[in-house]
Amino acid sequence: MCGIVGIAAKKEFSSSFLLERLKRLEYRGYDSYGYYDTKNLEKFVGEVVVTGDNHTKLGVAHTRWATHGGVTVENAHPHVSCDGRIIIVHNGIIENFAELKKELIIQGHRFSSQTDSEVIAHYFESKLKHKDIKQVMVEFFRQAQGTFAVLVMIKGDEKLYALKKDSPMVLGLCKGMNMLASDIYAFSDLTDKAVFFENNEFAIITESSWKFFDKNGKAINKSIKKIEWENEEKERAKKKDYKHFMLKEIEDEPGVVKRMLFSMDNEQKQVFNKVIKLIKSSKKIVFAACGTSYHASLLGAYYLHQVGVEAQTLIASEFKHYANIDKDTLVIAISQSGETMDVIDALKYAQEKKARIISIVNVLYSSIQRMSELSINILAGQERAVPSTKAFVNQATLLLRICQELGYKVNLSNLADKIKALLEQKEDIKKLAEQIAESKDAYIIGRGLTYPVAREIALKIKETAYIHAEGMMGGELKHGTIALIEEGTPVISLVNINDPDIISNTKEVEARGAGVIMITNNPALRKEKNTVYIHTDNDGKFGILAAIAGQLITYYAADYLGRPIDKPRNLAKSVTVK
Ligand code: G6P
Repeated sequence: MCGIVGIAAKKEFSSSFLLERLKRLEYRGYDSYGYYDTKNLEKFVGEVVVTGDNHTKLGVAHTRWATHGGVTVENAHPHVSCDGRIIIVHNGIIENFAELKKELIIQGHRFSSQTDSEVIAHYFESKLKHKDIKQVMVEFFRQAQGTFAVLVMIKGDEKLYALKKDSPMVLGLCKGMNMLASDIYAFSDLTDKAVFFENNEFAIITESSWKFFDKNGKAINKSIKKIEWENEEKERAKKKDYKHFMLKEIEDEPGVVKRMLFSMDNEQKQVFNKVIKLIKSSKKIVFAACGTSYHASLLGAYYLHQVGVEAQTLIASEFKHYANIDKDTLVIAISQSGETMDVIDALKYAQEKKARIISIVNVLYSSIQRMSELSINILAGQERAVPSTKAFVNQATLLLRICQELGYKVNLSNLADKIKALLEQKEDIKKLAEQIAESKDAYIIGRGLTYPVAREIALKIKETAYIHAEGMMGGELKHGTIALIEEGTPVISLVNINDPDIISNTKEVEARGAGVIMITNNPALRKEKNTVYIHTDNDGKFGILAAIAGQLITYYAADYLGRPIDKPRNLAKSVTVK
């Protein structure tokens, strides 16, 4: 993953400014970071600290999510060539780095890190001895295998060189400067004008000019996209009052649900209607997604089955092994970031098979959006906490809204109020969360529509509270997993009034000493001990509200344990490697 930033400016800017831009991309990785500003090369382990008043007109910076090589200062970017002339930052993986490195070592290059990325700096140094920079970039595209968004600086040269294949990169045209970055959030407060790199393109950037080329070095014309920022910046400003972004983002949910639903009847109405038409005319639907978005897609498949539409959902990284698709299949990609490499790969496979592609994303102009024939934006606003909350709620609600159009009975006009009412129970939920926090393991059980919700709650608990959790089908428990239930083992049971078999599964674990927490919409159970009551008899809404109750349980358990909630260890928000 990793986040990269490069700035070429007319007037000097400080290293704090550069690091502030990098901080905005930190959700892409936060193991280590560094920058180069024509005079100073600084590298650190840990999260980005915005500080320093070195001044420069040109600089690059990088925040890392480790793939090749441990989390050390040596492995932090930027990487520098032997002669110190070439400075690079890289997002992606150079798959044939060992091969390239071997050759460079024979030529006498000495490496100082374990990363794949360092090879790029040495490669440029070596090739620049005989060729000009443009030729070297063309050659790099021919020789480097894998994925990359690379920024190259050459000492004494006032330009930035940017190369992109499969990893995201965008140029922001800001007042008095041009800024290259992994995504648009790096400059969302500075400009609404951006130029997106497509695959296999490179660019030469100065403070006042930008020239793009294809991988063969042929100049290409690029268009400037105008970006709508208003919501992003307002939301960013509000965040200060919360201990963690995660809680802030859970509390944003009533508002973002309303905004998204409103948009389906207004500014996104046309695309929404086209999506409905396409679903109706497709032989079958196959979702491709990862992580939390995958759980939303499981809900989507459930809702679609309720209205008689053939639907299947596949974990994107396994897509090509299990997907049986053709030109009559509609592939729906669900991705918060719109940049997840596994999803992009699944879509490339779908393209090969001539399937039609639409997407549901939260980031405008993202790669997945740009690969789709139609794309709906869930309008959840930027999600800063790595554990996804409001994006999941909007993904699931949008899928419900789509199925409503196809005949699913649900009144969505009061969903935002129901979420608000649930959030008001947060002090009671906090007490339940503390019970889980004391345990090593937790089980979450559901049936039918609440099965995906059980899996989503388990994922949240694992990644945020670091408690081992398993989300499963209630009916499957007795076929093995029940052997793990002991006195006091926490089990969260999602008891949907319309699916009473889950009660038997709950009783089965209770009989073996489990500490049961119920999330239910059954009024008869409302007064039971350790119960979160949700006021709705609609299945679709219960699923979403139960997931939110799970988000709150997770948040408070993790907070009780003092976990780094917004940036759990080893994770990143946007996963642009395979
Ligand atoms: C990462 C994040 C998860 C997310 C998954 C899919 O692993 O940490 O929270 O669910 O990627 O991301 P996407 O942006 O495609 O929804």
